[in-house]
Amino acid sequence: MKVLKTVAEIQAFAKQMKDEGKTIGLVPTMGALHEGHLTLMRRARQENDVVIVSDFVNPVQFGPNEDYDKYPRVFDADCEKMETVPVDAVFHPEPSEMYPEGYCTYVNVEGDLTHKLCGAQRPGHFRGVATVVTKLMNLSRADHAYFGQKDAQQVSVVRRFVKDLNINVEIVMVPICREESGLARSSRNRYMSDTEKAAAVILSKSLRKAKDAFEAGEKDVETLKKITSDEIKTEPLATIDYVDAYTYPALEPIKTVTEPVLLAIAVKIGKTRLIDNVILGGDAK
Ligand code: PAJ
Repeated sequence: MKVLKTVAEIQAFAKQMKDEGKTIGLVPTMGALHEGHLTLMRRARQENDVVIVSDFVNPVQFGPNEDYDKYPRVFDADCEKMETVPVDAVFHPEPSEMYPEGYCTYVNVEGDLTHKLCGAQRPGHFRGVATVVTKLMNLSRADHAYFGQKDAQQVSVVRRFVKDLNINVEIVMVPICREESGLARSSRNRYMSDTEKAAAVILSKSLRKAKDAFEAGEKDVETLKKITSDEIKTEPLATIDYVDAYTYPALEPIKTVTEPVLLAIAVKIGKTRLIDNVILGGDAK
């Protein structure tokens, strides 16, 4: 696996692959890799000649009171995991390589899409994501880029700017990878104690309950949201940040499930903020 540290290095690698007529799959990550990330990489491996992973904790998507400094950085362990896929090249730049002095260009997806769900609590977050993902797509010359349903709103935002900016990349959304307990895998799970991890199962359990109700015939969105939040409230360590539902992928308000609907939650377990979701009435595309 090649380790690419600079813009010049990844550009040269991508050019060589393109000149050889190869298709490129990009998997953007912030490192601290777990099985969830690896499912994206394996999918990219199946569908492309070359797989490039980016492993970069992107400073511009973190708010001032968020965990940028504390975010786990374990590049050597990440490399061992990527070798098992295997991945052809990892792009692991310094922040100053991505945002050198004088840097002042950002991709901002305006309107409602970025202001609801996680966008409401994290102003500027999706501007940071859209900016770095645009740069990574340009640098890698990817044909396909892989994102997890775990961050379903992120996928909606990426699809939006890729369409709006005419970027020639196909976006692939990969289903949520879970631990046996049902807990969605996340780099932030490692912040939790064993007691907190046990309590965190309430996220997937509450969504399961709503999904069961939906499959049994409940189509009213408010009722499905209430089933979810009532279940979360049975867990004393859990504090609800939001329980919300919108059409997917457009994220428009909806009263009755007549098309695919994203039921998404953010819950704090102790100090750790976790997210999870389910798509009702349709397949994740
Ligand atoms: P990160 O949180 O490292 O996630 C990288 C990718 O892995 C995202 O597409 C995310 O949705 C996916 N992922 C994480 N946990 C998953 C799980 N349990 N199942 C399936 N997929 C999962 O998301 C980011 O980084 C950043 O915002 C990034 C896109 C890299 C831009 O900086």
